Amino acid sequence: MLLHIPAVFSREEVTRIREALEAAAWIDGKVTAGHQSAKAKNNLQLAEDSPLAKEISQAMLERLWNNPLFMSAALPNKVFPPLFNCYRSGDDFGYHIDNAVRQVKNSVERVRTDLSSTLFFSDPEEYDGGELTIQDTFGVQKVKLPAGDLVLYPASSLHKVAAVTRGERYASFFWTQSLVREDSQRSLLFEMDNAIQQLSRDLPEHPSLTQLTGTYHNLLRRWADV
Ligand code: NI
Repeated sequence: MLLHIPAVFSREEVTRIREALEAAAWIDGKVTAGHQSAKAKNNLQLAEDSPLAKEISQAMLERLWNNPLFMSAALPNKVFPPLFNCYRSGDDFGYHIDNAVRQVKNSVERVRTDLSSTLFFSDPEEYDGGELTIQDTFGVQKVKLPAGDLVLYPASSLHKVAAVTRGERYASFFWTQSLVREDSQRSLLFEMDNAIQQLSRDLPEHPSLTQLTGTYHNLLRRWADV
């Protein structure tokens, strides 16, 4: 399942973040790539321990933890801290599948990468190319969202960032370990939660709501690992 979550940051917030990103010191993106994907990766990245990366990451995760759409779709357990990248004209990242388990820098913590998220900090008109291209069960999806918006997709999918041919593409991405490992089970729960939310708006007094909500939680109890 591919999900678009709009306006994680407002226009004003995006403008401020962009100014900070444009003034930041960038390093070669290969430092966080696995052996195999380093060959395919041509971009710039903020150092993982850069204070700016930490500051924006914290704001981003706070925002997402209060976002009902993200919470319902991702059912997050823990995340690998967001990374920030910049693709200039000529940069790209060829097809790859992300490593399954990531070790958090300077920590014993490991994160299983069930879901990937990309948050765009450049608007589509600012650059050509640079589409996040994902092969999912329904074919190839090309994603290029307004600045401040996020796309959530299964980290098990083959994906690439197409070459940027004009301008600069700023974005952040991070991995989430979900309470529910299987994409198909997570999708079922997401659809069920949406239906329950809709029903509780339209027919708040309906007696079946209690049973349906209970069934949602009993499925989550069966599938969640914490
Ligand atoms: Ni990737």
